[in-house]
Parts: sequence; structure tokens; C-alpha cells
Amino acid sequence: MEAIAQAQPNIALVKYWGKKRGDRNIPATPSLSITLNTLQTRTRVKFRQDYGTDRLSINGTTDPIQLHRVTGCLDALRQVTGINQYADIVSVNNFPTSAGIASSASGFAALVTAACAALDANLSGEEQSRLARRSSASAARSVFGGFVEMDIKAQDPAARPLLTETEWPLDIVVAVTSTQPKQIGSTAGMEQSAATCEYYDAWVSSTSGDFSTARRAVLNHDFELLADVSEASCLKMHAVMLATHPALIYWNGATVEIIHRVRALRGEGLPAFFTIDAGPQVKIISLPGYRDKIERAVKDIPGVIDVIYSGLGPGAHVVESLK
Ligand code: DP6
Repeated sequence: MEAIAQAQPNIALVKYWGKKRGDRNIPATPSLSITLNTLQTRTRVKFRQDYGTDRLSINGTTDPIQLHRVTGCLDALRQVTGINQYADIVSVNNFPTSAGIASSASGFAALVTAACAALDANLSGEEQSRLARRSSASAARSVFGGFVEMDIKAQDPAARPLLTETEWPLDIVVAVTSTQPKQIGSTAGMEQSAATCEYYDAWVSSTSGDFSTARRAVLNHDFELLADVSEASCLKMHAVMLATHPALIYWNGATVEIIHRVRALRGEGLPAFFTIDAGPQVKIISLPGYRDKIERAVKDIPGVIDVIYSGLGPGAHVVESLK
């Protein structure tokens, strides 16, 4: 009743920001992402009859808020399998939480994968993705590798793989511009945007067009089109955040300077574009072979603290299963 799984974070190119009404954490917008490889979460889940409750350690510390989310996720799995045992969960990230890379995505994908293996629950990738989504919608995408789509037409949506990591390799450079925790998390930020942003409905209705354009760009390996639609989706999401009351300003000065640098590089013909999530770090995506040039262009910008490299990686997978 014990298993270890590994999952990688993902970066959305077409962004999810907003939830449908209801209690199952269904995104209001479709999204499309890439799964990374060098940043990893490893999670060991051990179910035991004599545990009276679930226990959780993330990077050696306990966190009651995360434990509550984890228990919710495992409750759903206990219901599916009919196994009523509690679990000891130990999760470790090989990347700093200050990197501004959503560790909840890799965390819940690894948790669901390890827990399913420990319980011998015979769930398909799609079912595991659906389960992960209920805890954190971006986690649904980390169940799969490479390019991943998350359509929202189904009643209880799951992510789906679109193209594997080897079919169209890309490079990612993350420019870290702050180590401060963000002031407002995604879930709360989305609620505020839905309640107060005058552009919110226009944002939601505009996302299906971006989603189908990005899908087409990925399937045709059309980097220019993917760059255009990804930057547009990112900037539209941040426009919604800025027009939320009180405003959600996730950028700092370095964030803006990097945007200008990346746009200048692209103007010079370098195949690279930027994307930014609910934080000030900038993720620069390029065709392979341009990492050094990109690093040189951004690392001297005042406020850039660190630069992290990644390529595209696989989906969540079992590393060890102990019975
Ligand atoms: C800006 O998946 O963290 O990164 O479903 O409430 O856990 P919850 O939100 P989360 O939101 C991610 C928002 C984003 C864009 C994206 O990844 O699509």
C-alpha cells in the first residue's frame, strides 16, 4: 500500500483564469500547457490501517492548508476504491518554491499518481487528471507530458495529451525576479476577478478562439503562431488581473523590462516568446539552441535574481511501487 511517483510542473501558454460556478473546480476557460523536465516533485504515499488521519510533509514541513486540500483529493480516491485507510504523504520538490513555478500542479499530479498506484486503483490517465483537477486545475495538465490541452466542454473535464515532448522539443528559460511569496493566490485572485473585473466576461468568451489557434499552432509546429497567441493570452489575463478591484499586480519592474527584451529579441529574428503567471517571474519559451543568447539578454537586467533552464518533459509516472 505504498508508492512513489514523480511529476513535473507545467506552464500554460493559453491561460486558465476563472472558475465555473459550482464546487468541483471546473475552469471557466480552456487552457493549453507545456510540461517541464528539470523541475520535479517526488511524492511517497503510504496507506496504513492504523493511521487515524492523513499526514503530510512538503519539503520537510507541515502545512495545514495543503493538508486539507490533500485530504479532499484522497477522500475522492477512497470513495472510488472503497478503501478507507489514511495515508502518510512525503513530498519533495527539487526546485525552490520561490521560483514562481506552480508546485501545486506537479504536487497534485504526483499525489494522485502515487496514491492510485499504492491503492491499485485502476484509473486511466484521463480519470487521474480529472481527480487532480478537482484539487488544482493546473495539476490536471501535469498528469501528461509535452503539450497538453484542457478543454472545458465536458461536464467533468480532464486534460488530454496533444503532442509528446519529443515530437516538438522546445526550451524554457525562467527568469526569477523575486523570492517573495505572492500576496494573493490564484484561487482567491480568480474569485476577485470574476466578482469585480468589468472585462471578465469578455476574457472568458475570448479564450476559446485562443485555445483553438494554439492547438492548431502546436499540431502544425508553427512557432510564430504559437508565440503570438501565447503572448496575447498572457497579456489578456494580466489585463483582467490589473482591472480587478483591488488590482492584482503580479509584475515588478524587472518583469516589464524582460518583456521588452524578449520582444526585441523576437524582432531581431530570434524564435522566443514570454509568458507570465500569477507572479513576477518570466518564462521564456524558444526553439532549441537559443538558451545562452536568451540568458545573456536577460541576466544583466536589474532585479533578475536567477535563471533556470528546462526542456519539455514527461507526464506524472510511478517511480516505485511497494506492496
Ligand atoms: C495563472 O491551477 O493554481 O497559473 O485550480 O485554484 O488550484 P486552482 O488554480 P491554479 O491556477 C493556475 C493559474 C495560472 C494559469 C494557468 O496555469 O493556466
